[in-house]
Amino acid sequence: MSFENLLVDRDGAVAVLTVNRPRVLNALNTQTLDELRRAILELKRDEAVRAVVLTGAGEKSFVAGADINELAVQTPTSGREHAVRGQHVLDLIEHMGKPVIAAINGYALGGGCELAMACTIRIAADTAKLGQPEINLGIIPGYAGTQRLARIVGRGRALELLLTGDPISAQEAHRLGLVNRVVPAASLMREAKALAATLAAKAPVAVRYILEAVHKGLEMPFPQAQIFEATLFGLVASTDDMREGTKAFLEKRMPDFKGR
Ligand code: COA
Repeated sequence: MSFENLLVDRDGAVAVLTVNRPRVLNALNTQTLDELRRAILELKRDEAVRAVVLTGAGEKSFVAGADINELAVQTPTSGREHAVRGQHVLDLIEHMGKPVIAAINGYALGGGCELAMACTIRIAADTAKLGQPEINLGIIPGYAGTQRLARIVGRGRALELLLTGDPISAQEAHRLGLVNRVVPAASLMREAKALAATLAAKAPVAVRYILEAVHKGLEMPFPQAQIFEATLFGLVASTDDMREGTKAFLEKRMPDFKGR
């Protein structure tokens, strides 16, 4: 895989994706979004990849939003297509069936905050700033930010962030539950990769089903979500990894999961 605006590195079962447009603080233009789409599909297909870390190039920014040069000239129809395309790429991340850890190394604004929210787990550098500043451009979030933010931090807090457009510190984002952890900037990638490696060692089918049960189940009425969970619980009993996991426990050793 080779891209113009995206770096892809492999470290065992962990893939590191880096949005690489540091001169514009890694703003997402159409090409970068499309490269992200292709990379995610490829990593989803690759059975050797079990977890992904997503970050931004340079020390200043994770992703400073959609590319404002493109937004400035959009029409009603191209604006709608732009939003649908962005939503689709973020949905692919959320539903890729493998944990994606956002390593937020600086500004995560607008589309950058939305991108981080589509990831499974968010770790922020203590220097990071997060927010949805679209209101200050006279627009609204278009990559499902109004929806994911309200689901993650609650309606009232989301509305304050969306309506003021004010960025918040990593510490405040942690207090609101928008990020899972805050770590010193210098250890961000080490921590993100260590967590990714831990998750990569878990049983892949069980990981996939947990992601599916939570993401899909939360959109269902509770009784249906319970049936959905019970069905996945039953399905996972058909895997070699279930036999390996339970046997390893009884034999007092570490399991070796194969993803089958
Ligand atoms: N789209 C396009 N270009 C962007 C961008 C974006 N979202 N965010 C930053 N850039 C560009 C700047 O235009 C500037 O380009 P230039 O060097 O050609 O002038 C370069 O990146 C560096 O940004 P700059 O504003 O000079 O850095 P700063 O440290 O003064 O401020 C921010 C950093 C993040 C506060 C500021 O860049 C910003 O507010 N960006 C827009 C954030 C936003 O509204 N995102 C939501 C978009 S929907």
